[in-house]
Amino acid sequence: MSHIDHHSKPYDEGTLNKLEIFSRYIESWLPTFIMQPHINEVNIVDFFAGLGYDSTGKSGAPILILEKIDGFFGYLMTRQTIINLYVNEFNTHKFNKLVENCDAFLDKNKRLRKFVKIHYFNEDFNVIYHKIISTTHNQPNLFLIDQNGIKFTNQENFNTLLNLKTTDFLFFISSSFFKRFNKEEEFSKHLHRIHPTNYTRYFLGESCKFCGNRSASLFTG
Ligand SMILES: C[S@@+](CC[C@H](N)C(=O)[O-])C[C@H]1O[C@@H](n2cnc3c(N)ncnc32)[C@H](O)[C@@H]1O
Repeated sequence: MSHIDHHSKPYDEGTLNKLEIFSRYIESWLPTFIMQPHINEVNIVDFFAGLGYDSTGKSGAPILILEKIDGFFGYLMTRQTIINLYVNEFNTHKFNKLVENCDAFLDKNKRLRKFVKIHYFNEDFNVIYHKIISTTHNQPNLFLIDQNGIKFTNQENFNTLLNLKTTDFLFFISSSFFKRFNKEEEFSKHLHRIHPTNYTRYFLGESCKFCGNRSASLFTG
């Protein structure tokens, strides 16, 4: 995906598809973890958060997460589960808007403040990545890694993800980079038979038409 300033433009079709995938994933992930009796706290991390909305007011990932959490408020009340939402954005202008947008959302939906703790970071991904992992590794996690390009997709970062327990992650890269990485054994051996031409459907949880697998296990670390 090209570099888009989400503040000044509407999301493009690719971004809307990506948000739809994420939205459906989080709708399944949240109740699964909230309702487990031995789990009191979960973490959701958006490492490349953007500013929360596009120019038309369409929700980006951080706001989508808050909307989805609000949709499960009854579950939170029942289980008293705390959700830590970690959001990181490197660009300071976007970061300031992100804080403003998330705080405004919580002001409008005050009941969430009891259960949702937002942790804001205005840092480079490579600085914050290991810090957040060392803070969150003892609880169930959902990581969203929605980078521009591939400069953060290196073997070490990827291995770190794969070795985490109870951590699901959604890792977005554009299809052109994806095809290139898929040929590298170190990358592809972990991602049981990825099929680039089919990957969007595959991620949406439908059976892959080539091997019959579903997405759920694909992104579980
Ligand atoms: C594809 S956008 C994320 C969109 C967001 N997840 C959403 O749904 O609205 C990538 C974001 O990462 C930010 N970014 C770029 N380089 C970064 C870095 N090194 N560390 C952290 N964030 C960075 C960009 O400013 C941009 O807002």
